[in-house]
Amino acid sequence: EDYSPPSTDIITLTRHVLTEGFKRREESAASGDLTILLSSLQTTCKFIESNVRKASLINLIGAAGNTNVQGEDQKKLDVLSNEIMINALRASGKTAVLVSEEDDEAIFVGEKEEGGTFESTKGKYCVVFDPLDGSSNIDAGVNIGTIFGIYLVKDGSKGTLEDVLRPGREMVAAGYCMYGSSANLVLTTGNGVNGYTLDNQIGEFILTHPNIRLPNRGKIYSINEGNSMYYHEPVLKYLDSIKFPKGEGAKPYSARYIGSMVADVHRTLLYGGIFGYPDDKKSKSGKLRMLYEAFPMALLTEQAGGLATTGTERILDIQPTSIHQRCPVFLGSKEDVQDLMKCYQ
Ligand code: AHG
Ligand code: MN
Ligand code: MN
Ligand code: MN
Repeated sequence: EDYSPPSTDIITLTRHVLTEGFKRREESAASGDLTILLSSLQTTCKFIESNVRKASLINLIGAAGNTNVQGEDQKKLDVLSNEIMINALRASGKTAVLVSEEDDEAIFVGEKEEGGTFESTKGKYCVVFDPLDGSSNIDAGVNIGTIFGIYLVKDGSKGTLEDVLRPGREMVAAGYCMYGSSANLVLTTGNGVNGYTLDNQIGEFILTHPNIRLPNRGKIYSINEGNSMYYHEPVLKYLDSIKFPKGEGAKPYSARYIGSMVADVHRTLLYGGIFGYPDDKKSKSGKLRMLYEAFPMALLTEQAGGLATTGTERILDIQPTSIHQRCPVFLGSKEDVQDLMKCYQ
């Protein structure tokens, strides 16, 4: 057994981002600003986490009574998390454009805010985000999260829609925070993937999962199989192949589906296997939103050595045309995703 004493040299997220920043600074002068932006983002995650933990106690459970642009009923926590993020990201002084699942239109920072107490300073970064992912799981206390992706505005741009309608491969950073049995923030700045766990006592995210790498093949599949009657042939063929594998001693895959993308992707990054939300006969482009769900998770997956595809094309290469656009998603272990892609050929 391991009786070694606890570490006295903890690496906080801030420390880690700063030291990573020293390496980055050689490549781009913007890295100091990115460090400040990431610091602001981790604060929003702590703030949202704190509300999630006490939601049942302070009347934060249930519907807010509004519908968002995608026609979903907003939960109180969706609305609150969205406001927390917008306020903090504006106040950081490092953002130019914000795109949120809960806002119909993109927000352009620096323009006079209605009812605001101060005019925020405009920065060079665009943040696309899903403030609270897994809405349907809130009331049951099941894992939920926050997803974000970051673009640097194009050269000479003051921040327009064009700065966020770009392929995911152009993101300079992406991550999520999962509010589960612990709060886990997983982040890439384009140089691998690291995971941090919130130590509530000291209020810091501590590096607990350095350099996350997906195994080349997993044993788990994660998809809402209740939609099977709508699925297209390639998906059904793939599911059949992992549930009824051929060959001597071949074992079928295990099913795990939480219904919060953050939690399903988190498990996939750590254990391997495949997660999917395909397009089907009912949902022409699937359900997940490209900018703030598919792109950040695809970037994390690729940075961790996995693959992310719509079935027929690399997700990070898609050129989005509108901010709330959806796309089919399959991501996970390299060999599992390759097997899936073969079913589409
Ligand atoms: P959100 O709660 O941000 O609207 O996202 C919900 C998404 C995603 O978290 C999850 O993967 C998917 O919806 C689950 O959808 P189904 O309930 O159709 O399986
Ligand atoms: Mn939603
Ligand atoms: Mn979501
Ligand atoms: Mn959401």
